[in-house]
Amino acid sequence: LKSDLLSLVSGASDLPALEEARVAALGKKGRITGLMGDMRALSPEERKERGQQLNALKDEVAAAIEARRGVLAKEALARRLEAERVDVTLPARPEAQGRIHPITQTIDEIVAIFAAMGFTVAEGPEIEGEFNNFTALNMPANHPARQMHDTFYLPAAPDGTDRVLRTHTSPVQIRTMLAEKPPIRIIAPGRTYRSDYDQTHTPMFHQVEALVIGEDIHMGHLKGTLLEFARAFFGIDDLPVRFRPSFFPFTEPSAEIDIGCSRKGGELKLGNFGDWLEIGGSGMVHPKVLENCGLDPSRWQGFAFGMGIERMAMLKYGIPDLRTFFEADLRWLKHYGFVP
Ligand code: PHE
Repeated sequence: LKSDLLSLVSGASDLPALEEARVAALGKKGRITGLMGDMRALSPEERKERGQQLNALKDEVAAAIEARRGVLAKEALARRLEAERVDVTLPARPEAQGRIHPITQTIDEIVAIFAAMGFTVAEGPEIEGEFNNFTALNMPANHPARQMHDTFYLPAAPDGTDRVLRTHTSPVQIRTMLAEKPPIRIIAPGRTYRSDYDQTHTPMFHQVEALVIGEDIHMGHLKGTLLEFARAFFGIDDLPVRFRPSFFPFTEPSAEIDIGCSRKGGELKLGNFGDWLEIGGSGMVHPKVLENCGLDPSRWQGFAFGMGIERMAMLKYGIPDLRTFFEADLRWLKHYGFVP
């Protein structure tokens, strides 16, 4: 029996097998335990002798189990260390770092400049009603200016209201004037949509709108704000800004905004060189628009402008092709994107 049990212990190849051997020998129904139970039938002298034998056997087997347990535990640890070994000479996995898209970067820069001038950022939805996108901006149904916007019309909302993808950020002017009491000083950057696609047009593009409403606002404030902004944004201290008479239904008078440039040798350079480049539209908010938003034009005046963000990014960062902004080419993004 003893050699039987000892060989069971030494033959256990792992800790669970060893536990099985222990139960078979010393457990409640184990063989030594069973023999001890049998002693009840013996006489006191026989029982004493038999008890000593069995206790010695039990101690010996228990000691063998403990010894075996030590060996097996050591082996298990050695196996784990081997399996989980770290090869510190392996090269690290490459870590890809994302870039800030030039449009995002440009919007952040524009916002920072206007924030320093006391403007706050306003937002509106990209799906607009025709009222906010056109009618309230003094472009009633059938107004010819609507045609120039190449509008994406959407199916009407469940409640019957018409819907379009906003063709400019100017509806945020309406939303702001309807929601807030003047004085107002906001900019509204965001996506805009027109059904147009060629070298200089993408169906989705970005604008930034500005709206200032107060009691004594005049065109000098508009000009000063644009001059200050353009010089800060492009980082050119003597960059000229000029107004070119224009027409928008929602401003009167209206002016296109030009900045100074040079095109000598086919290369575009910004600065005071005598040539001009358009960056947006502007004007004094039309009295009808103020009225449409519940403001009394005899008390409140204001200016507004809208500029194309892609155009500004292309000029500042030398990006030659508009369409590449939205091709999601990682090589392009790595080249023109900004490290966060
Ligand atoms: N919304 C006009 C456009 O998209 C630009 C503009 C904005 C003009 C504000 C005047 C005032 O062309």
